[in-house]
This record gives sequence, structure tokens and C-alpha cells, in this order.
Amino acid sequence: MSGYVLAIDQGTTSTRAIVFDGDMQIVGKGQKEFTQIYPRSGWVEHDPEEIWDSVVATVKMALHEAKLTATDIAALGITNQRETVVVWERETGRPIQNAIVWQDRRTASYCDNLKRQDLERVFTKKTGLILDPYFSGTKLSWMLANVKGARARAARGDLCFGTIDTFLIWRLTVGKSFVTDATNASRTLMYNIAENAWDEDLLDILRVPAAMLPEVKDCAADFGTVDPEIFGAAIPILGVAGDQQAATIGQACFAPGMMKSTYGTGCFALLNTGADMVRSKNRLLTTIAYRLNGETTYALEGSIFIAGAAVQWLRDGLRIIGSAAETNALAEKADPTQEVYLVPAFTGLGAPYWDAQARGAIFGLTRNSGPAELSRAALEAVCYQTRDLLDAMQKDWKNGAEDTVLRVDGGMVASDWTMQRLADLLDAPVDRPVILETTALGAAWLAGGRAGVWPDRDGFSATWKRDRRFEPDMDEKVRTAKLKGWKNAVRRTLSEG
Ligand code: G3P
Repeated sequence: MSGYVLAIDQGTTSTRAIVFDGDMQIVGKGQKEFTQIYPRSGWVEHDPEEIWDSVVATVKMALHEAKLTATDIAALGITNQRETVVVWERETGRPIQNAIVWQDRRTASYCDNLKRQDLERVFTKKTGLILDPYFSGTKLSWMLANVKGARARAARGDLCFGTIDTFLIWRLTVGKSFVTDATNASRTLMYNIAENAWDEDLLDILRVPAAMLPEVKDCAADFGTVDPEIFGAAIPILGVAGDQQAATIGQACFAPGMMKSTYGTGCFALLNTGADMVRSKNRLLTTIAYRLNGETTYALEGSIFIAGAAVQWLRDGLRIIGSAAETNALAEKADPTQEVYLVPAFTGLGAPYWDAQARGAIFGLTRNSGPAELSRAALEAVCYQTRDLLDAMQKDWKNGAEDTVLRVDGGMVASDWTMQRLADLLDAPVDRPVILETTALGAAWLAGGRAGVWPDRDGFSATWKRDRRFEPDMDEKVRTAKLKGWKNAVRRTLSEG
């Protein structure tokens, strides 16, 4: 059998398909952006049909670029933006409304209401998550309450709920597979991560009928076969993981204490805690890193909503830079005597603050502040926020997180300046791998490993290669002063501050 493996990476702003060969090298790629729909302030939606079309188109592009056909592909792995909710008709496969995206804040008051009933500890105990609009459960509940007749239809079993992976697999198998994997399930606020099952108490609270939920599988499993009409051959779907978990796998963070951080629209850091379901006392999430052969590996996760999006804002909002790549050079020549802080709480603050009402702020402007200082502030904000996460992780998990090297990936890590500043502010080494497509690689490994055409876990870990290690190189006094300045800026930004 050939070693070609196809990965579909269905992200928040674009869909990508990548074909890897038997040596895990990229031989073909397709990418397509799709529409971000903002019906009201704080609401974010996607059209599931447009997402589906983008998947079909990018797979065809990738196969074309690789000069292959679907018959050459041994296995398909799927990875996806997490938490985003789709509900569709079992009979027709038609979505009942647009997908509600993870960034959408429409259920903030619903979450507050549940908190007032003292239910947060119930959700946290069972799911490892907190009551924030970020997660799927309250979004699904909102849809059932607001789309006419939805709740009754769902109770009759006429509607299906899925995160994006489930929806895509349903479409790819033409309704034959109604499944998800443990990592995606662990982000829904409805899945008991200790028992590895949908939780009836939580479903009752959220008023979600169990009849509409998919079967939950391991990350490497038989998820069904792509209908041959779609790409011209019946490709087995053998790997699925949420994108941040797929990146953890792609970075080969398989041992407890290993940690990765992905810098895309937002930033998500995951620390592998092994079989240990560490309960955070510092507002981090406990989540499933992966489940393989029925064995669950857990992680502590810190989720930051705005990372690369702050640079996008400099480009598209303020229009003070022409391209994201310019920030590197601008930051380098920023005036070191000006301490400008940007707290990018554009959609509230995520971990460890979880302040849905906070909004962004800039501190320390002078008459000399310009694009260079703002660029540096945007890049540094990403570093400071990562530091906040690592501090929380170290407090939560004493088993050696302090010695951890951070493995990084995502668009922003191309910037040497940012990575050096990250190491400086973390006071810890930062490793940038050769292969930066870690998310797709992780999904491809799940599928290729399961198909037996790619190496096993140890063999795969051995292929991970470092491009460059950034060692901390900042005077301790400077670092302490800068971190103090950041804490102060955050304090002044928090909604109750
Ligand atoms: O939890 C949200 C995360 O999965 C989104 O990742 O890369 O699509 O922005 P990304």
C-alpha cells in the first residue's frame, strides 16, 4: 500500500488540505479562505455549506498539486477548529442554521445565569472546562431554543449535532458515519472526561437531547469511508483530533511534561499531563490531549483568543503596516525607552483571566509612539500572554513543568524576533521545529499510523526535528520590570478593574 496520507485541516478562517508522502514530506497543498459572518456585535458564524465546498475544493487542489488521484491515498486524517457548533437534519444533511463559531459570545448571559445557580463547579468537575461562551454546550442550547421547532425535532432524533469534524465526516460518508473523537467531544461542555461518555446530568441542565449526539471514538479509529463519488475513490478516514490536540501530536508531545504552543488567530498552549487529570486551581482547562487504544492522555490547556489577530488588526484595522511580516523589522527598531503595552482583549480575555466583558487597551503612549512601538507591543502581548499561561501551568502541575521546553508552531513563529522575545520573557528555551505544519501532520500521523503505512508513536517522535532553539537572553531586571508593566496593564483592562 502507498504511504500517501491526506490531512484536512478545517480552521477558523481557512480550510487546508495537505498530502504527505510515505516519508511524511508534503507533496501537495490546497488552501481556501471562507466568509466570516458577523450578524451582530460579538456574534461569529460560518456557513457550513461554504465550509463543505472549501473542503472538497482544497482536497482536489492538493491532489492535483501532488499529481496524485484519490486512489493513491492510503488514509485520511481530519483536524478542525474546535467547539464550533453545527446542527443538521438527519434526513437531508441540511444545516438548520449557520454554524456558531467558537469565538461567538452570544451565550455570555446564559453562562452567567448558570454560574449564578452555582453550576460552574458541576461543569468543571465533569468536563474540565469552565462556564464560558467559548465552548459548544451553551451554543447548542441557544440554537435549540431559538430555531423554531428545533428542540422537539432534536428530541425525536431528527436533528444531528456535531463539531466540524462530525459534520464533515457525515458529508464525506454521505450520512453513513455519525461520529466524533474524544478530543473534540472534550470541548463541548457535555462530555465527562473522567468517564469518557456524554454526561446525562449536563445534557439535562443544557436541555440537549442525547438522541442528537454522535458516537465518540479514539483519535485513531475507523471513522468510515469517503464515498467514492466525491473524490473518485473510497478513502478510509482513520484519524480525527481537534486542531490544538492535533498540533500537540504533530509536535510529538507524547511524554508528560512536554508542551506546545500554537500561534494562529489565537494561541493555545497544551501541557501533556499523561494519565493524570490535573485539576487547575489557576483557571486553566483540563482537557483530553488524545485517546489512543482506549487510553486517555490528559492535558492542561491555556487558551488565548487573540495572537496573530492583533497583527491583523495593525494591518487591517489601523492600517499602519502593509503585511504581517513587516512587524518583525518594525519591532526590532522600536524605541527601547518607550514601554508601550497592548492588551488585545478584543473579544474579552481568555485564560487565565476569563473576562468576557473586558475590551482591548493600550498603555504608555507618548508623542513619539508610532508603528514600530505598536508592532512591538502587539508581538510582545503574545509573549506576555504565553508567560501568564506558563506561570499558571507551573502552579498547577509541580511534576516538572518548570524544566519544560516550549515547542512552538503556527504562522507567527516565522518571526525570529518574536520567538527570541518569547524565550526572553518566559525565561525558558523555545524550540521551533523544521515542519511547521504540525496540525495537519498530527492528523495525518493518526491516520497513517492506524493504516500501518507510517511509523508508530516512537518512530514518529524520532522524526521530530528542531529548526532552531531560542535561549533566553534578557537581563533579569529588565524582564522583571517588563512583566510588572504587563500585569499592571492587564489589571487596568479587566472589566472589574
Ligand atoms: O479552540 C479554537 C481553536 O481550535 C481554533 O483554532 O487554528 O482554527 O484558530 P484555529
